[in-house]
Amino acid sequence: MTLRGLVLSGGRGTRLRPITHTGAKQLVPVANKPVLFYGLEALVAAGITEIGIVVGDTESEIRAAVGDGSRFGARVTYVPQPDPLGLAHAVRIARDFLAGDPFVMYLGDNFIPGGISDVVDEFRRDRPDALILLKRMPQPERFGVAVLEGGRVRRLLEKPRQPPSDLVLVGVYLFQPTIMEAVDAIRPSARGELEITDAIQWQVDHGRTVVPHVIEGPWIDTGKMDDLLECNRVVLDRLDEQRLGTVDPGSRLFGKVILEAGAEVRGSTLRGPCIIGERSRVIDAYVGPFTSLYHDVVVEGSEIEHAIVLEHTVIRGVRKIEDSLIGRHVVIERGTTLPQAHRLMLGDHSRVELP
Ligand code: DAU
Repeated sequence: MTLRGLVLSGGRGTRLRPITHTGAKQLVPVANKPVLFYGLEALVAAGITEIGIVVGDTESEIRAAVGDGSRFGARVTYVPQPDPLGLAHAVRIARDFLAGDPFVMYLGDNFIPGGISDVVDEFRRDRPDALILLKRMPQPERFGVAVLEGGRVRRLLEKPRQPPSDLVLVGVYLFQPTIMEAVDAIRPSARGELEITDAIQWQVDHGRTVVPHVIEGPWIDTGKMDDLLECNRVVLDRLDEQRLGTVDPGSRLFGKVILEAGAEVRGSTLRGPCIIGERSRVIDAYVGPFTSLYHDVVVEGSEIEHAIVLEHTVIRGVRKIEDSLIGRHVVIERGTTLPQAHRLMLGDHSRVELP
């Protein structure tokens, strides 16, 4: 049977503002690769190469990054969604692309380091109407929550205030075409969205087979900064060392340090795991564990660790930055004029924490 992929990359990304004022949250890099790419790779690794990507306001950016999908070994079709009206709405509008085939729906900001090949195999073998991935999580109220009874799905609730269990819905769902009937039947939720959670509940209520698969390995919804940094930590930990850039004799590198092509390190100490992107320069600086500098970044006379820095940003003369996500073309530098004060020019929704 042909299994298609439906990757959701529309939506607004309000929880990652201001980064997402100017860019798609699915393209924020994790260990210097857009998070969306890991999802596409997981689908292809599971043998799914016909992939539809649902896109919204950031369509042009996603198209520019992914193209026709050939570099992933996939064939990508774009499915424009004029407004982010919900995950079930995305399924509705993808009807033509899905062409009556079973499919895997993959939320573009979700990350599963272990991939999805085992659940895809299980779905191909058992052919339930729906197979949902669950994981035990603290703070389940941030997600869709499932209640199981005798190993079967009984109830699903979208971000309940009082979660009845700690089993949350991971953003990967496998469906037979019978899901279309459910997405057509449901009505918008209190937050005004057509919820996939409600569509699956509809299937449960109408006697369809909805199979739960509880995953033990890591899963990260990268839609919030702390989770994104955690994701970066997990991925950097798994990468192999690579030294494509240059290091002068005055520098010391400890642990797993990845230098991408054209990266330059001078008079600095780097403690891995960390990654320095293409043409980025680290001068008289300290870069600590779990740090990703994307391409064309400058870190000079500064210390940074446990952080993600996006492209073309300059950090100069700053004592210590940690636990941070810093956008593109940002300049952070020590002022030289008196009075010594914090002088800021910050965009909307920026967040600064000073010592
Ligand atoms: O991450 C797992 C959670 O994802 C589940 O536990 C929830 O049950 C599920 O509703 C969903 O919750 P979120 O609130 O995190 O979904 P979010 O709005 O962040 O959207 C998920 C992805 O889908 C994201 O990449 C944006 C995209 N999207 C979202 C909407 C609402 C679309 O492409 N179109 C849309 O209309």
